[in-house]
Amino acid sequence: MDATPRTHFLPPNVRRSADQDRALQIGYGSTCSQPSTVAAMLRFLDLAPGQRVLDVGSGSGWTTAIMARLVGPQGSVLGVELEEPLVTRSAAALKGVPNARVQLAVKGQLGAPDDGPFHRILVSAATSRLPQALVEQLTPDGAMVLPLNSRLVRVTREGQEAAPGYYAFVPLR
Ligand SMILES: C[S@@+](CC[C@H](N)C(=O)[O-])C[C@H]1O[C@@H](n2cnc3c(N)ncnc32)[C@H](O)[C@@H]1O
Repeated sequence: MDATPRTHFLPPNVRRSADQDRALQIGYGSTCSQPSTVAAMLRFLDLAPGQRVLDVGSGSGWTTAIMARLVGPQGSVLGVELEEPLVTRSAAALKGVPNARVQLAVKGQLGAPDDGPFHRILVSAATSRLPQALVEQLTPDGAMVLPLNSRLVRVTREGQEAAPGYYAFVPLR
């Protein structure tokens, strides 16, 4: 995370707060997630070099860039985001990261079913129901981490486990 400075992914008005461990407003009702929360999610996601990753609710593009570094040049990360201005901004911030790209999410369709399956899926927006459509975009041995009922939950085809603690996110729409 230190090697992927958060400030580069933030709008100018909040850049001075980049080093603070809190979520920051990035416009369009979205936030750049709190660094300690991102760290907890990525530890739980357990990425490995070469994996194909889907970043649902990629927002600023910061998590997309961090994960692109973790999966290395043989891996890839696709970010999907509902807010078009954030897609434009994050795509610019991700220039120079060849194994990461972002695209506009299709309304009414979760994830990117045409681009899957994915070894890992990170969801950065809260839901109270497990989105089966995303589970179906996982490889057979894949794993997804998402905020489910205020807990960080890791989902595989075998089952679910929750990390300690409670977390608040903007809603998954
Ligand atoms: C917490 S914010 C951004 C998190 C991002 N990882 C970051 O640190 O910048 C979550 C984002 O999820 C987006 N979002 C909500 N529902 C979505 C959906 N169904 N598909 C794609 N993006 C969605 C919101 O627009 C918001 O930008």
